[in-house]
Amino acid sequence: MPMATHMRKMKKKVIKKFKALNKIQLRSLCANKFKMIIVFTCIVVALLAVLMCFIFPVSDVTYFWNWSVINVKETHFPRDFLWGTATAAHQVEGDNDKNQWFTFENGGFTNSDKNIANYERSGIACNHYNLYREDISMMKKDLGVNSYRFSIEWSRIEPSKGNYDMNAVQHYHDVIDELLKNDIKPLVTLHHFTEPQWFADLGGFEHFENIEHFVKFSEFVFRAYSKKVEIWCTINEPNVYIVEGYISGSFPPAKHSIVTALKVTTVMCEAHVRVYRALKKISEELNVKSQIGLVLQLSQVDPQNRYNPIDRICTFAAEKISVGLYLDFFSKGSMYVPFLVNYANTDAVGANDFFGVNYYRNDFFGMTLDIPPIKSVKDYKNREYNDMDWEIYPEGIYRAIELVNKTLPGLPIIVTENGLADAKDAKRAKFFDRYLYAVNKAIQDGCPVKGYMAWSLMDNFEWASGFYPRFGLYKMNYKTMKRTLRSGAKPFIETIKKWKVENNIKD
Ligand code: BGC
Repeated sequence: MPMATHMRKMKKKVIKKFKALNKIQLRSLCANKFKMIIVFTCIVVALLAVLMCFIFPVSDVTYFWNWSVINVKETHFPRDFLWGTATAAHQVEGDNDKNQWFTFENGGFTNSDKNIANYERSGIACNHYNLYREDISMMKKDLGVNSYRFSIEWSRIEPSKGNYDMNAVQHYHDVIDELLKNDIKPLVTLHHFTEPQWFADLGGFEHFENIEHFVKFSEFVFRAYSKKVEIWCTINEPNVYIVEGYISGSFPPAKHSIVTALKVTTVMCEAHVRVYRALKKISEELNVKSQIGLVLQLSQVDPQNRYNPIDRICTFAAEKISVGLYLDFFSKGSMYVPFLVNYANTDAVGANDFFGVNYYRNDFFGMTLDIPPIKSVKDYKNREYNDMDWEIYPEGIYRAIELVNKTLPGLPIIVTENGLADAKDAKRAKFFDRYLYAVNKAIQDGCPVKGYMAWSLMDNFEWASGFYPRFGLYKMNYKTMKRTLRSGAKPFIETIKKWKVENNIKD
């Protein structure tokens, strides 16, 4: 019998059977089918969820420690630990008018007079350029630190392409000499968000061919100071520079393009590798010791609801773009996002003598209707937040350190920034107690953390947020330029004192 005739007969049979069913039979058949559809859908969703966990793995623990049973004062830091504070040139020096941030503050890149909150400008900032002696003296006397992380402003040293300002070179010699005179080890950052306007005009880190300008500047600076400076941070938080400058658009060049953001990620990572290799060569030539590393912002990200596949995908994407790609590149020599980025350089493996961890916040990701469609959202009630609405979550710094140590096992880690915006100084003491405990716990658990730099020495110009966030161990009076030590800095100072006593270190 031909197939078509057979099918026709079958169809007739089914219709006949169906018609023969009475109403009750029909209803129960439908109900059973409905149940089956539900069960089937549940199985498919469950399978998809399991599949998601493999395709989009996000960190497995969102954990909290029980602080009521922890003695935060129970810390024991190693003898050679670096204790310091950190600043960045544009945020504290004042009168920086040759970099792209000056342009941005004055409406450049967007034609808006409100690129900075409250229409503020960095202006004279903390006048640290002129008051550095006083600042170093208070670091020594009040805080008792043994190191200081600061950045050298590229646009001061090389205000126009290929022309170096020897007065600026002398200035940083003076700063470094003053630190050394006070037994404070300088940690120098070569790029902390700012670059000369001429470099930005060339397209900055959007182009591979511009890397050579950054390499030349770094070599120049390294030749000038490497006899006095051992620890060098190449680029501060390329991930923040990129997310803010190329995705959210709140930093210059105020663009909104994932594609450009990913291109800049490859260029900046490559720039780090080339600077690292170039400076290591000069180290050998000059016979000086050097430790050179990248500094990354290691915010911890979790899905708003870890059983929601959409939230998982958002978290996975956010983690990949902001942290994962960098760690992949420096551990495996390659970074990859299907259709978007595929970049490799085996030279990247081993191109860090230490890794700089900046930690401030944890974020929860979930789908929103905003642009860009992924957004960090607060998930928990009754938790504490700083003045910028960043959750105070000390467990996060432990997770950040642990993540770096897992990805780059054994590589020395320096906490190059950690702090909070707290104008009332109501949460600072508890913050330092708990974060220092968390860092110490990471060390006890086997992570090679070599230092901790509190952000920041004093309140300063907080980029697009202007002057309202107050991160300083010292409160700034911007009218008189007076610095006043905050009582919330006490646990930081006391932990250093305790460490000195335990290790028999004299002032
Ligand atoms: C930056 C600092 C900034 C701090 C607080 C870090 O991302 O390196 O320059 O002031 O965070 O927002």
